Amino acid sequence: MGKKIVILGTGGTIAGTAKSSGDHTGYTAAQIGVDQLVQAIPSLAGIDLVTEQVAQLDSKDMGFEVWQRLAQRTAHWLADGNVQGIVITHGTDTVEETAYFLQAVLQPAKPVVLTCAMRPATALAPDGPQNVVDSVTVAQTPGARGVTLVCAGVVHDARAVQKVHTYRLDAFVSGDDGPVGYVEQGAVRCVRDWPAVESPKAALLDQPASSWPRVDVLLNYAGADGRLVRLLRQDGVQGIVVAGTGNGTLHHDLEAALHDAVEAGIHVVRATRCAFGRVFGSAGRELPDSQGLSPVKARVALMLALGEAARPAAR
Ligand code: SIN
Repeated sequence: MGKKIVILGTGGTIAGTAKSSGDHTGYTAAQIGVDQLVQAIPSLAGIDLVTEQVAQLDSKDMGFEVWQRLAQRTAHWLADGNVQGIVITHGTDTVEETAYFLQAVLQPAKPVVLTCAMRPATALAPDGPQNVVDSVTVAQTPGARGVTLVCAGVVHDARAVQKVHTYRLDAFVSGDDGPVGYVEQGAVRCVRDWPAVESPKAALLDQPASSWPRVDVLLNYAGADGRLVRLLRQDGVQGIVVAGTGNGTLHHDLEAALHDAVEAGIHVVRATRCAFGRVFGSAGRELPDSQGLSPVKARVALMLALGEAARPAAR
């Protein structure tokens, strides 16, 4: 028997139940325990598996306490020399944020594979079991490392992946970067490298989740003005990610309010509301861009950067 694979459950549609097998939307997420999910997959029977229920929620309700606990439990198992890799079951709706968060705070040299499902466990043909099997395959693959998301046979990098479809089983893309690889016939075919292992930005993991920096996301649109920026400032926001139009462009009223916010000490990052492509800077009085991150991931990156900046200097 090979080394252990740990499966951490957090809920989602993969653990959801509906009243009828034909109902793919009117279900309740996060009803079935991860242990029961795994027990129901016969092809996993010969593998040395450990399961742990870290949370049980619909991922639209994901919050910092669960992220903190999930990161801590993942770090715990990663440190176990008998563990080869970790699979995390998660809802599809915020899994790209969780994946980016875990990669940033853990930078794991072992594989941490998030997986999910678009159909509840009670569907006539649920997609969850195959996604779990594929994820275990990735977690057992020699040389695999970093945080990835596996869905519909595709292995996505935590940085690039985003959900782009509300219903289809293959609901995720990796944009211009493309996927890391594919799971085919029980083996991984890599088409690019695994996520790089860099220095973790883990300062927030030592802080109570209730004290994590407050960063919100705003959008540019026809008629956008500076009102929401001023309201966020009154409310004590520490950072704002603005999803601009096209190449991160902003209505001049919104832009002026954001520059005022910067002058008042608020950190502002400019992303794009376009699904693909990055924001290119140009000389002038520009707000920093999101380095190719989507608005929701740029928000996580800014929170973590603010956490690092507030870390007491080492003596
Ligand atoms: C969720 O994100 O928890 C519900 C939706 C899904 O998993 O597809």
